[in-house]
Amino acid sequence: MKTFNIAVIPGDGIGPEVVAEGVKVLKAIERMDPGLSFSFTEFPWGCEYYLEHGRMMAEDGIEQLKAFDAIYLGAVGYPGVPDHISLWDLLLTIRKEFDQYVNLRPVTLLDPELTPLKWKSREDIDFLVIRENSEGEYAGAGDRLFKGKPEEVVLQTGVFSRKGTERIIRYAYEEARRSKRTLTSVSKANALNYSMVFWDEVFEEVGKEYPDVRTYSYLVDAASLYFVTEPERFEIVVTSNLFGDILTDIGAAIAGGMGLAAGANINPEREYPSMFEPVHGSAPDIAGKGIANPLAAIWSVSQMLDFFDEPEWGGTVLRTIETILQERGSVTADLGGTATTGETGDRFVELLQSNAVQADGG
Ligand code: NAD
Ligand code: IPM
Ligand code: MN
Repeated sequence: MKTFNIAVIPGDGIGPEVVAEGVKVLKAIERMDPGLSFSFTEFPWGCEYYLEHGRMMAEDGIEQLKAFDAIYLGAVGYPGVPDHISLWDLLLTIRKEFDQYVNLRPVTLLDPELTPLKWKSREDIDFLVIRENSEGEYAGAGDRLFKGKPEEVVLQTGVFSRKGTERIIRYAYEEARRSKRTLTSVSKANALNYSMVFWDEVFEEVGKEYPDVRTYSYLVDAASLYFVTEPERFEIVVTSNLFGDILTDIGAAIAGGMGLAAGANINPEREYPSMFEPVHGSAPDIAGKGIANPLAAIWSVSQMLDFFDEPEWGGTVLRTIETILQERGSVTADLGGTATTGETGDRFVELLQSNAVQADGG
């Protein structure tokens, strides 16, 4: 019997609403598979915790999380706590402390009706964004001098180390080689004359070891255009932390919206736990209404199962997302349905059971 210990951080806004459905799915899998067991430990960290304790997580929070096989996170950030405090003290700290330097964000259209690009088919929108997740524009390096004075100066420095740049680019080449897909680097060397010139050089250097991988290199402005006009150009995309953040919201927009966009923050060496979370935030505009779409959080569960070396379950969960999308009545309003968050999760579990039986019985 394989047991996985999962730290659950529901967080703020719709975070707890969608995470509850992901946990429901994992519990259903546990019931169906006698070889698998999950234990869940919930941490009440987030903005409410901050208002009570003056911090986003326990002082030894990182120590507490170290022992887990994975972290399952909803979303963080809520009006009342400045975003740069809530996000830095929790989400970005976890990504950095656990050296989760790979952020995997699939952009895969599971149902052609869900893209606003009406002239595009499923085959056209099917790629993986590999976002650098530990440094770059998010290094947190900078200063604010002469605050409030006329001579005020603010610095926010991008940090691109050779180690950090090489390892993400190498990871992307390996993934392209393994899956026999093309690799596109997205950068901006025409304007960012230090960091992105370096990025492009490293992309070319590392590429010499992968003559079998077909590559492309685009400027981020043009890449944003192609995400919308010609997404079929992309199979694997590797890019910096900030560009990856922005591009994956565009990716979400063309593949069904924020309610369907999943992400995994991976420490490939498995020295520390990896973290699975939807791309979306806490969505204060819809929080507490029971209408948040849980499918992004459930897709992140599929990524977690792949990471646990349970690709059959990972695949079954993904297939079940396709299945439920065929029943518009069973999904939430953002996808044109009428179901609540909880109803979507309940129906998902029913469909998962029948998909699992089919996979088993042939
Ligand atoms: P957001 O992703 O929370 O919301 C953007 C839009 O998408 C909103 O209209 C929202 O209603 C919609 N949306 C998002 N998730 C949805 C879902 N599951 N189902 C249906 N609709 C959904 O982005 P924002 O409004 O810019 O940010 C809100 C807060 O979340 C901020 O504090 C921000 O810093 C934080 N944030 C956190 C994370 C994270 O924890 N990973 C990610 C992004 C933003
Ligand atoms: C994301 C989010 C975070 C990021 C924010 C909340 C710090 O937007 O995961 O996409 O920029 O990485
Ligand atoms: Mn984002």
